[in-house]
Amino acid sequence: MNEFCKKWELDPTKLPIHVGIIMDGNGRWANSRHLPRIMGHKKGVERVREITEMSGSLGIKALSLYAFSDENWKRPEEEVGGLMTLLRSYVQTDRERLISNNVCFRMIGDRTRLPVDVQTVVVNLERDTSHLTGLKLNVALSYGGRSEIVRAMQKLAQRVAVGDLKPELICAADVENALDTVGLPSVDLLVRTSGECRVSNFLLWQIAYAEMAFESVAWPDFDSAEFARVLREYTSRERRYGLTSAQIKSGKRGSF
Ligand code: IPE
Ligand code: IPE
Ligand code: MG
Repeated sequence: MNEFCKKWELDPTKLPIHVGIIMDGNGRWANSRHLPRIMGHKKGVERVREITEMSGSLGIKALSLYAFSDENWKRPEEEVGGLMTLLRSYVQTDRERLISNNVCFRMIGDRTRLPVDVQTVVVNLERDTSHLTGLKLNVALSYGGRSEIVRAMQKLAQRVAVGDLKPELICAADVENALDTVGLPSVDLLVRTSGECRVSNFLLWQIAYAEMAFESVAWPDFDSAEFARVLREYTSRERRYGLTSAQIKSGKRGSF
């Protein structure tokens, strides 16, 4: 058994394949310490590192992290600027670490809204890690589930317009292939930190059958032990996908 699974008392056969995390609570974490909000975001980056490394070590295949939403553009200019600065420095300082950990990095979201220099460092990191075979790390930046679906619909409409696709033959796989998460399986486990019980426009299509874990701890305090606790709880759930419990127990596997 994988030594990390053993260490955290996790059954590797029951772990999620794709985990999504809404990393919330940075601002409140900082406020409660009388610190500026940006300090909460800074501490949050350390947790990104820790949870990414732990996911890779446990053999989780994909980790999608919500870092900045479509709606977050409406925050005060100073906070948006501070987040872009943190992002630039993360992509640069963590480059080697990601490569040595065999992590394949991808950004999901509307990259055209990002500052041009951020777009460049992101594209470079995607290119330099695209061949890596370990954890697939998707960072959602300038991301909204609705706008991702709209962009996907535009791609499909374009294919219909040029005669490459018949409307009546459009299937779920066509939609999936037009989303930013193309090639990834659906989300198995969606975690949100800091107490809010909402999905805030994250991976709307991909979480259709995800297990939800709403945790009270703020993202800057969400360490490996917290993640292991959430994963352990997930492994005890029975995922039925519309079948009965008896069907699942008799070995019939549900899927989505
Ligand atoms: C999540 O923390 C990070 C981003 C949205 C960028 P918040 O900044 O939303 O923190 P709270 O929810 O205000 O505490
Ligand atoms: C969701 O958090 C977005 C990210 C974690 C990046 P928000 O803090 O922006 O969400 P709301 O506003 O509470 O729904
Ligand atoms: Mg928040």
